[in-house]
Amino acid sequence: MVGLGYIGLPTSALIAKNKIHVHGVDVNPKVVETINAGKIHIVEPELDEAVDNAVKQGYLRASIVPVEADVYLIVVPTPFKGKNEPDISFVQSATKTIIPLLKKGDLYIIESTSPIGTTEKMMDLIYQERPELKGELHIAYCPERVLPGNVMHELVYNDRVIGGVNDESTNKAVNFYRQFIKGDLYKTNARTAEMCKLVENSSRDVQIAFANELSLICDKAGINVWELIELANKHPRVNILQPGCGVGGHCIAVDPYFIVADYPMESQIIGKAREINNYKSFWCAEKVKTIKLEFELKQGRKPSIALMGLAFKPNIDDLRESPAKYIVQKVLQNANNEEYYIVEPNIDSHTVFKLTNYKEAIDKADIIVFLVAHKEFKELEIPQEKEILDFCGIIKK
Ligand SMILES: NC(=O)c1ccc[n+]([C@@H]2O[C@H](COP(=O)([O-])OP(=O)(O)OC[C@H]3O[C@@H](n4cnc5c(N)ncnc54)[C@H](O)[C@@H]3O)[C@@H](O)[C@H]2O)c1
Repeated sequence: MVGLGYIGLPTSALIAKNKIHVHGVDVNPKVVETINAGKIHIVEPELDEAVDNAVKQGYLRASIVPVEADVYLIVVPTPFKGKNEPDISFVQSATKTIIPLLKKGDLYIIESTSPIGTTEKMMDLIYQERPELKGELHIAYCPERVLPGNVMHELVYNDRVIGGVNDESTNKAVNFYRQFIKGDLYKTNARTAEMCKLVENSSRDVQIAFANELSLICDKAGINVWELIELANKHPRVNILQPGCGVGGHCIAVDPYFIVADYPMESQIIGKAREINNYKSFWCAEKVKTIKLEFELKQGRKPSIALMGLAFKPNIDDLRESPAKYIVQKVLQNANNEEYYIVEPNIDSHTVFKLTNYKEAIDKADIIVFLVAHKEFKELEIPQEKEILDFCGIIKK
């Protein structure tokens, strides 16, 4: 297992639990050291026990350099470079480290979210360096679709899409996963499997963009978007999602760019959805600016403002690519002696923002801006006199 992060480590622990020897490889010596001590470096329920057991029973160990194996899984990051271009250099360098170890009959699988054609590119790279192995290896792509926080369960029970560079590779990979996955395993080719992962997240992004676009139209038209969507969803074949203050996280807000970067002319809706969801965050920040000025004009004094939520989605502590965090940053950039109360009930402290308890913030603020639909906010009693900007459907006003 090359790459022992949020996906590679739980997968290693699961395979090891099925009494298959796993050798984990990671370039980070701290990660290797932690795992070999039976401990974990990431937060994921039930993972600590699974890793501890796997290490104690001798089915999992880790090192910085790879060792010879029968199956190689590549689970390293695939970030951006430049202007939303996917960077497959981690997959490339991880692959290079195992090329000298490959032997006839081995199975090589990429799990990292990857642009279309990456598996074929890695196959070419492998056969360039080891021409004697041409046609003798099994090479496949199998994307991961687990939900952080429920990884240990979903790893076993989610259905998986598995695509080889040829039928033999697909079958070999399916047989491998069947040893530890209870969900259905769907066979396809490598390009379709790569695209499938990207499409799943793009589909969510496009659907959220539709809801966000409606929220912009409704704001101008004087219509309550929450009521509108509820009514439209009474249609038996309509299911519009809820708008929010943008789209965040490291999957939905990222993966669509992997398609747009390679197919800019063809991926009109996918590209536009990214723009709409990004614009929605900018628009929310502008709305805060407007309500602030209106308050000052009306009341003859600066308002105090509660900014409710920093996480990228409700009830988690993850701020990666968070639209709420972006809005808070933007609002603070435009600050002009107003008092701000920044709230995130899922974290204790933040390196940049001074956090306030959510009840205290509601109590003290003149204007309350709901950015994330955390469960705590839904239970609040909000005094009549407060001005409210509800971007995420807390009170549906
Ligand atoms: N985290 C998720 O929820 C999730 C879900 C679906 C898909 N994915 C995809 O899975 C892939 C891995 O994501 P993650 O969240 O596990 O990443 P991560 O950053 O948590 O872990 C990746 C690990 O790979 C190591 N690494 C980097 N280069 C290496 C190399 N050349 N050799 C060995 N180790 C190397 C890093 O040190 C790190 O520990 C990404 O493509 C991601 O998009 C992630």
